[in-house]
Amino acid sequence: MAILKIARLGHPVLLGRAEPVSDPTTPDLRRLLKDMAETMLDAQGVGLAAPQVHEPIRLILWRGAEGVQALFNPLVSPLDAEVEEGWEGCLSIPGLRGVVPRARRVAWSGLGPDGAPVSGTAEGLAARILQHEADHLDGILYLMRMRDLSRLGFVEELSRHGGGQA
Ligand code: NI
Repeated sequence: MAILKIARLGHPVLLGRAEPVSDPTTPDLRRLLKDMAETMLDAQGVGLAAPQVHEPIRLILWRGAEGVQALFNPLVSPLDAEVEEGWEGCLSIPGLRGVVPRARRVAWSGLGPDGAPVSGTAEGLAARILQHEADHLDGILYLMRMRDLSRLGFVEELSRHGGGQA
């Protein structure tokens, strides 16, 4: 296991389109999955996408109710038209938080770590995390989804002035 280096805003790997994975069960991908989980927990993140650790493949991790969950080739789509705003941060944009509109409810599908198809629905914070991480695979950062850049700030300042809470 190893803690991986996280690409920060400005690195081109964050802006590219990641490649689909044909077989999630290879030893290399198993190792990557473990290292990404360790990296996410070490960085106190709630989600991580492979391009953030310089691997341009379609793999995301998040902290769910059942611990760290992983999804290869994820498809995440809104279940209805309801959108809600909420604060987000990103391990690739350290220190900042911003308000981002996201679908409140989503359907998700993809391949699990054993290569079997998996699917489900999510709402609220879990739906937000899934949309944020899936966006990383298309080179989209939460800043690009913001409608009001006056609601972007450093966590330290926001918390001092009553903002920035998820
Ligand atoms: Ni992120």
